[in-house]
Amino acid sequence: MFSYRHAFHAGNHADVLKHMVLIAIMRHLTQKDTALTVFDTHAGAGLYRLDGDYAETSGEAAEGFLRLVAAKPLPDGLAPVIQDYLNLVAGFNGKGSHRIYPGSPFITQALLRERDRLKLFELHPTDAKTLSANIAQLGAGRQVAVLREDGFEGLKKFLPPPARRALVLSDPSYEMKTDYIRVVTMVADSLTRFATGTYAVWYPIIPRPEAHDVPRKLKTLATKLGRRWLNASLTVKSSKLTADEAGEVIRPGLPASGMFVINPPHTLKAALEVALPQLARILGQDRNATSTLESAA
Ligand SMILES: C[S@@+](CC[C@H](N)C(=O)[O-])C[C@H]1O[C@@H](n2cnc3c(N)ncnc32)[C@H](O)[C@@H]1O
Repeated sequence: MFSYRHAFHAGNHADVLKHMVLIAIMRHLTQKDTALTVFDTHAGAGLYRLDGDYAETSGEAAEGFLRLVAAKPLPDGLAPVIQDYLNLVAGFNGKGSHRIYPGSPFITQALLRERDRLKLFELHPTDAKTLSANIAQLGAGRQVAVLREDGFEGLKKFLPPPARRALVLSDPSYEMKTDYIRVVTMVADSLTRFATGTYAVWYPIIPRPEAHDVPRKLKTLATKLGRRWLNASLTVKSSKLTADEAGEVIRPGLPASGMFVINPPHTLKAALEVALPQLARILGQDRNATSTLESAA
């Protein structure tokens, strides 16, 4: 049932998009004094080694984070949200080294204030154990809780949060087809409990109808409830199958992904308008590389 391990994918183009958007949201939400609670419904192991077996086998970071790090300077300079992302990841590494890649739990924790809280859900027994061990090293005490629970269900009991300020990041592996429906159901249920929270959902853009349904259904939901939303996507290559010289089918791997945000910070759209085309330019692998950004005020 659980064969997905994020260690193979850490630092890929989808992580770049997701983590850059996460940082931009966190920067905004931590400007107000009131305590913030962040829920990460699918947390992963928390920290990854880019020089370890998993990452080296897949080589995905080489086409994502590492490609961004090595990119030639752009004439107009890097967008501030991309630079902020690179600086934050650099903070986990020694000067000039890029061996450690922080997952969403460590990225978020790095941006919390003392009064803020972080609740991490992770269901995979091995990743939950690694996550707990990694988090324990932070010595963050009660600020960060690791729950070995189903994040779709577990979130319910915490909404609304005491100070009525929260960000929910939902980053399922979509390993099971039901994840596509469950993530939308979870957001719909959460909005009835806590309509003013910020909800950020990562989704893959692949040729499967249920994958296309995620942003479509979230858009309908947000619109029906009169909530603002923003949908950002990054495509790095074609989704078409190709064949090698021997006629063997080559699967392209993940070609594109998106982040759908309900109740986004007002500053997010302008920040992404500059950043997304730059990401498409730097991380693009063929002429299909592009980005999109749509939103409703
Ligand atoms: C894409 S990874 C998360 C990566 C992480 N959010 C990050 O950005 O670093 C998805 C994780 O969700 C876990 N998972 C799968 N189903 C789950 C569920 N129902 N509840 C909680 N965790 C789940 C998987 O074991 C995997 O580690």
